[in-house]
Amino acid sequence: MLSIVKGPYLQWPTPHTVTVMWETSEPADSKVMVWQAERIHSGYLGNYKQPEQVVQTVHLKESTVIHRITLEGLAPSTVYHYQVHSSHEHDNVASGKFFLKTAVQRGTPFSLAVTSETGGYSGFDTSEGQINRNVFHHMRRYRPDFALFVGDIVNDGHNVEDWERYFFLPGKELLSDTPFYCCLGNHENHSPWFHRFFAYPPPSRFYAFDYGDARFICLDSTELIDNDTYPLDSGKMAPGHEQFDFLVRALEESDARWKIVFFHYPPYVSGGYQVEALRALSPVLEQHGVDLVLNSHTIAYERSHPIRDGGIDYENGIVYVVAGGAGAMPSWLLPKREWHTAQSLAVPHFLHVVITPHTLELQAIDDEGRLFDRFGFYKDVSGKRYF
Ligand SMILES: [Fe+2]
Repeated sequence: MLSIVKGPYLQWPTPHTVTVMWETSEPADSKVMVWQAERIHSGYLGNYKQPEQVVQTVHLKESTVIHRITLEGLAPSTVYHYQVHSSHEHDNVASGKFFLKTAVQRGTPFSLAVTSETGGYSGFDTSEGQINRNVFHHMRRYRPDFALFVGDIVNDGHNVEDWERYFFLPGKELLSDTPFYCCLGNHENHSPWFHRFFAYPPPSRFYAFDYGDARFICLDSTELIDNDTYPLDSGKMAPGHEQFDFLVRALEESDARWKIVFFHYPPYVSGGYQVEALRALSPVLEQHGVDLVLNSHTIAYERSHPIRDGGIDYENGIVYVVAGGAGAMPSWLLPKREWHTAQSLAVPHFLHVVITPHTLELQAIDDEGRLFDRFGFYKDVSGKRYF
């Protein structure tokens, strides 16, 4: 029997396009139907109704198991319904109908939810994945425009079942209507599944995208250092190396008001598993006005003071946040904080980040929906930043 075994889920939203993906149990064709969602303006019940009229149908007839269709010609910051269909000569299957929203353009506020380590409970967690389900559930309650995962979303990236067990199944509801980005962690282990399941532009292990007034840059920190010993290999974090040159280009070419860089290994964290070697990236991030760096790897929450030139700088420093989110809390956590630690708590969590043309507000929320940290920047028209 033909069935949908992953998804549908959303990738790479722009103001005019969204990519829809899903996996079927057997090779089949791929079709997505799209309806415009109309907001109901009546009484107190602002809601969406589903009109009868299909605004777009895309049908790819070649047979495949992992399906990928990019919807084009959509309107910016607009909500649609979509439904996926697959068929072969003996059977056919359709998903439910879900919402999607195209990316906002500059000047329009938006939000994202951030977590990681959804594969991190293996060996620690006795809740049978309840932590994951709770974190995904509360992320969706905030209705973020997209989600961002800072790596280690599976336990062993080469084990294809892990992708369902730790990520697609517990995240099913969230991922059906929330596009997501992910960077490689050590547990993805450079698996080819990362590239098959996700639709990031080549080489896909590092990439940059704009959303509203922010530029986001994803790096593969597992390529920059050796996982076993974390030695500084300056050759990979200096001009002439492919990924470093990409980073500089992605920063230089952007005049976005906010710049956010995310990669797995944390240059600054006091709880353990800090990878100091990655501070070799900080000068170029500081030079190009990066505001926020998102990391993971340490399964705890930690927010740094603003840091520049290896010290605290409240005017121009970068804030490093470890969103080690959805894993079970480790027993190895070091007992004392460091000079760079502004706030730290070992609790399953996610971040909700709201970005407008002039403000960036970050909230840290635990797996029961409770706010436990909050931080923000204000930036005036000249680009000067205030805390
Ligand atoms: Fe990790």
